[in-house]
Amino acid sequence: MSNIRVSLESTEILKASLEKEYLDYKARNLKLNMARGKPCREQLELSNGLLNCLDEKDVTDETGFDCRNYGLVDGIPEAKRLFAELLDVAVENVIVAGNSSLNLMYDVLSRAMLFGMKDSVKPWSDEKRIVFLCPSPGYDRHFGVTQDLGIEMIAVPMTSSGPDMDIVEKIAGADPDVRGMWCVPLYSNPDGITYSEETCIRLASMKTAAPDFTIMWDNSYFVHHLHDEFDSIPEIIGVCSEHGNKNRAYEFASTSKITWAGSGVACMASSLDNICHQRKHMGYQSIGPDKVNQLRHVRFLKNAEGVMNIMKKHESILRPKFDIVLDILDKELGEMDQVEWNRPKGGYFISLFVVPGTASEVVKLCKDCGVELTPAGATYPYGKDPDDRNIRIAPSFPPLDELEIAIQVLCTAVKLAAVRKSVAK
Ligand SMILES: Cc1ncc(COP(=O)(O)O)c(C=O)c1O
Repeated sequence: MSNIRVSLESTEILKASLEKEYLDYKARNLKLNMARGKPCREQLELSNGLLNCLDEKDVTDETGFDCRNYGLVDGIPEAKRLFAELLDVAVENVIVAGNSSLNLMYDVLSRAMLFGMKDSVKPWSDEKRIVFLCPSPGYDRHFGVTQDLGIEMIAVPMTSSGPDMDIVEKIAGADPDVRGMWCVPLYSNPDGITYSEETCIRLASMKTAAPDFTIMWDNSYFVHHLHDEFDSIPEIIGVCSEHGNKNRAYEFASTSKITWAGSGVACMASSLDNICHQRKHMGYQSIGPDKVNQLRHVRFLKNAEGVMNIMKKHESILRPKFDIVLDILDKELGEMDQVEWNRPKGGYFISLFVVPGTASEVVKLCKDCGVELTPAGATYPYGKDPDDRNIRIAPSFPPLDELEIAIQVLCTAVKLAAVRKSVAK
């Protein structure tokens, strides 16, 4: 009995001291943002060469095509070659487009709704129900696209080697309404998990009840390493083909976080059938993408080696930011039960799991203190984190000093929400 009283008293003392610490931060009228994985200004400056790498004598692609004019709906040959080299696929399997890979993903799925995929029996919108598997935590904008198009979502838990494949195989193998799946296979958003080779092979080879089951292979972080020793994944389009499922995967990437997030170049890669299918519809949608931007990207980046060189410079800007976040988390939250986070080798995020049932409170506490985070729940389909536990930390944008304060505030909020919860029990 007396032990319980002592522990209640010490919890009350801890709570009072955390409340005070929190109010002290609040009094500082902070205005800090860690909500989105945006490159910081210093990173954007790395690509200022894009502003003057073309001139009036250099406006044609390698075939002599004038990039200022209409045409080439699937991109200029040298831009295709650059992405083909980076993604380890053949040039014929690549379409290079405008600035956003998310836009390409949205278009591929809207076309599936309107016309069906290459192996569909009818347009998806003519079906009663279309379902996508969503490894979770995952990228909120994937879930937004799916929801916007009326596609139902089923959350699949992530493991340290990718989505739980027993669950994926069971659902995709049994239910013909399940037509596809989102995957961020390298340095996943937000967990920084890289799919194992076994996971990739199981995804490529599994039996699916739907003939047009489609993997949206969002390889956004394909060159975004944070350490010398980096992860890699198999080339999925070839692996699908080897296992008799040649039209299963669409791969996406862009230079958004290589050059400029708002003015980069995006691409998709897939089987020849799929590429023809998309190109046909794209031909009605547009007379051609911004090829001048494609040309200046090729001039500026040159080749895969040029890309890796600039990515090393990004790494040197980003790495200290990730390190500072991880150091503070270790120091402030290392002893807490039920609180854990990943140590990503690449990508843009740190995924923090707080005491179950407190993530929304933590995000609110931070917001009231002037620190903006991705909304709690955003990393799950329909914005609903079943355990109210996951918070995505995006360290790239704020300067180091601001990041440090923001994480301190976050740690105070994590502890305060936990202690408030335990007192309320
Ligand atoms: C997993 C993932 N896919 C896609 C994007 C956006 O890509 P893009 O800028 O090419 O549209 C992001 C941006 O954060 C992302 O994290």
